[in-house]
Amino acid sequence: MSRLRTLSWDDSAGALVLLDQTRLPDQEVSVSCPDVDSVIDAIQRLVVRGAPALGAAGAYGVVIAVRQGAREGWTHAELLNQIERLRQARPTAVNLAWGVDRASTVIDAGHAAVLAEANAVANDDAEANRRLSELGARWILDHVERRPLRVLTHCNAGALATTEYGTALGVVRSLHAQTPLEMVYADETRPLLQGSRLTAWELHRDGIPCQIQVDGAAASTILRGLVDVVVIGADRIARNGDTANKIGSVGLALACQAAGIPFVVAAPWSTVDLDTVDGSAIPIELRDAAEVTQVGDQCFAPPGVGAFNPAFDVTPAQYIAAIMTERGVLQPDGRTGLDGLLR
Ligand code: MRU
Repeated sequence: MSRLRTLSWDDSAGALVLLDQTRLPDQEVSVSCPDVDSVIDAIQRLVVRGAPALGAAGAYGVVIAVRQGAREGWTHAELLNQIERLRQARPTAVNLAWGVDRASTVIDAGHAAVLAEANAVANDDAEANRRLSELGARWILDHVERRPLRVLTHCNAGALATTEYGTALGVVRSLHAQTPLEMVYADETRPLLQGSRLTAWELHRDGIPCQIQVDGAAASTILRGLVDVVVIGADRIARNGDTANKIGSVGLALACQAAGIPFVVAAPWSTVDLDTVDGSAIPIELRDAAEVTQVGDQCFAPPGVGAFNPAFDVTPAQYIAAIMTERGVLQPDGRTGLDGLLR
């Protein structure tokens, strides 16, 4: 199985090369981003997406800004302004701002230092995913008895959403390597279908049994006893453990609570935002109504009717059995800060 290249750095072109996730699964094509505007456009159109991948894209975006600034004679203030545009390209995934900030700390040391930092952001993410997936799989095997296991996941928290391996799908991969899974239910994830287009593509490629289901089927699948554990990724985890992830996640958590099965979150520590006290302070991205009312160019809604299109929701910590990070598996209670659980 060839390794997925969600993103890579092309040094001769001075460009970030992205696997265009808007074209999957039909076409595996890359997009080259040589300037700040093209990086922002790729982030906003979800050519690159998923919190950890956004962190790495943001860090490489700073490399691009530094090179473009030198080429076009930007002042330092202009450079900082362009970096801030990058930082704010999508608001919910804290990894984007984190990756931009990490690379920005060394801009005074020059282009090579910024590139080295961006490479470190990407490499650290790959390592974190392997480690958290191993820890997460071990936690699930210790806490869930049934074999073979049946897992449900939402959106795409796989290799495509990270620099490699994945978070929630990393846990799925590690589980499957230890004890073959019976089934992974992949919620299709309306409106942009990250579950059916991307998660099912990754799982199928790896030979892991999976079925796509419409988002509306998930609660029923859980209550019918067809699922042993729900594993999702995260875009931002507040200090108390409240977790933002793709719209539809909180409904899964409530169904797990009713069914008495664990709802778990897998994410690198770069997704934990200790400065955000709880979920009420997490900014939720609102996207274009056309993503809901249209499929491609065809509109399915009555003319003149709008759509409410929040891209994420927040699951309160009380519904989360465990948060799997590379630093350890945390069991939030909504009151003790996550950093407190690590001590
Ligand atoms: O809008 P997206 O596709 O960027 O949303 C992605 C998610 O919600 C993922 O579950 C999350 O970023 C974690 S990715 C490891």
